[in-house]
Amino acid sequence: MQVAVVGCGYVGLVAAACFAELGHQVTSVDNDEAKIAALNAGDPLIHEDYLPELIRRHHGTRLTFSSDLPEAVRQSQIIVIAVGTPADSSGEADLSFVETATREIAHAVNGHKIIVEKSTVPVHTNAWIQRAMVFNGCAVSDFDVVSNPEFLREGTAVTDFLYPDRIIVGCRSERALRVMKELYTPLLDGTYAQEPDAVPRPDDAVEKPLYLETSPETSELIKHASNAFLAMKISFINAVAGMAEAAGADIEDVRTGIGSDKRIGMRFLRAGIGYGGSCFPKDVSAFRAIAQSCGCDFTLLDEVQRINDNQLKRFVAKIRKTLWTTKGKRLAALGLAFKSGTDDIRESPAINVIQELLQRDCQITAFDPAAMDRAKAVLGDAIDYAPDPYAAMQNADALLILTEWKEFASLDLTVVKKLLKYPIVLDGRNLYNPKEMAAAGLNYYSIGRTPVEVAHPMPSRARAARFTQ
Ligand code: UGA
Repeated sequence: MQVAVVGCGYVGLVAAACFAELGHQVTSVDNDEAKIAALNAGDPLIHEDYLPELIRRHHGTRLTFSSDLPEAVRQSQIIVIAVGTPADSSGEADLSFVETATREIAHAVNGHKIIVEKSTVPVHTNAWIQRAMVFNGCAVSDFDVVSNPEFLREGTAVTDFLYPDRIIVGCRSERALRVMKELYTPLLDGTYAQEPDAVPRPDDAVEKPLYLETSPETSELIKHASNAFLAMKISFINAVAGMAEAAGADIEDVRTGIGSDKRIGMRFLRAGIGYGGSCFPKDVSAFRAIAQSCGCDFTLLDEVQRINDNQLKRFVAKIRKTLWTTKGKRLAALGLAFKSGTDDIRESPAINVIQELLQRDCQITAFDPAAMDRAKAVLGDAIDYAPDPYAAMQNADALLILTEWKEFASLDLTVVKKLLKYPIVLDGRNLYNPKEMAAAGLNYYSIGRTPVEVAHPMPSRARAARFTQ
């Protein structure tokens, strides 16, 4: 099938490469000429497993990159809109990129087109796209609009796309439903997974995805409700972590205890310094704004956001108390990305913690396996950058763990102790067992667990204050 994907961001680029991998003829379009030039020169733009391989495999044959949207539309039967929908100042999704893309598509229509809405959008965007198509000169019979949200996670985006839990297709046209099913056939009948050079199926992937055909409104709600629910799980466990800390309980055991109930599940129940990234913060705000505009009471979402904001503040307060004073302290920060497996620093809790500490006159030396270049573009020379984790901690007053990269969970603790000026580790991602930290002679402060204080415990009054904050 001939497919145009509009937008070369995370979702657009991964979707384009994966549709090519499924055998379709894809034009990936963006109005940023520099991006297109970089992609044509072989730069995959984002750090994502398998993406460079897929682009190499299909570029120039089944996958082309172009800034000529009208031409891509004319050549294609299916046009996927995957442009950004950032939050505006009121927290609502800014749909101006979707509107611009729709207008340009409408002006180029030369026969029947299926327009697929893949950007994360509020309910009723499908209807707005239809209206904009007609306002811009298209006959209703020239197109169908389908809502087909994407559920990929950064870091595992390619395997999430190729081995999805579910594919949701929202539309009322029989013709469009037939075309969408054909688009995804290799994933639905399992033929893709059987190809000799297929991207390997992850162990936890389902055998066969759920394929749900529904109304556009339902499909749009499914996307926002999924992200809001996952964010709610994270805020829930973070709130319980605060209680665990105050009560002297252990949040990791609490998580195991509640997560082993199949109705609850272990996933997205890791306590930490709060969720970040380009999706959850924006989507919780947008969903809240939609609920308000529908006249529905959904203040639960306000709490989800509030707990998330507080979680970061609590961690900064913990750092402050553990260090006694912050001015001039030199801290090693492991992690800049908003989560492991990505170089994305948008809404990164790690960057937010660092910025708070810079305001308190701390000096930071940071290391991240993937996100250093992107962090440099934001933080510049306000911090120092180390070539590896151990170089970052050389003579530091304390070590901060801010992103859950695997390599940060297997540090040589004897070396850590030797390199740090003081034996203090503040772990915002609970990567270590407190017992091993105690055995290594490190004072260890994590989330929702009793601190380990083997060397020079904090004065008892400070400890009491910590528990009441
Ligand atoms: C999220 C969703 O997981 C995807 O399903 C969705 O498609 C995507 O948004 C989107 O709408 O495009 P992503 O933003 O890549 O994916 O990241 P997640 O893996 O969901 O993590 C989000 C944040 O939550 C990270 O900061 C992570 O560290 C944090 N997190 C995650 C926790 O603090 N605890 C957990 O247990 C899980």
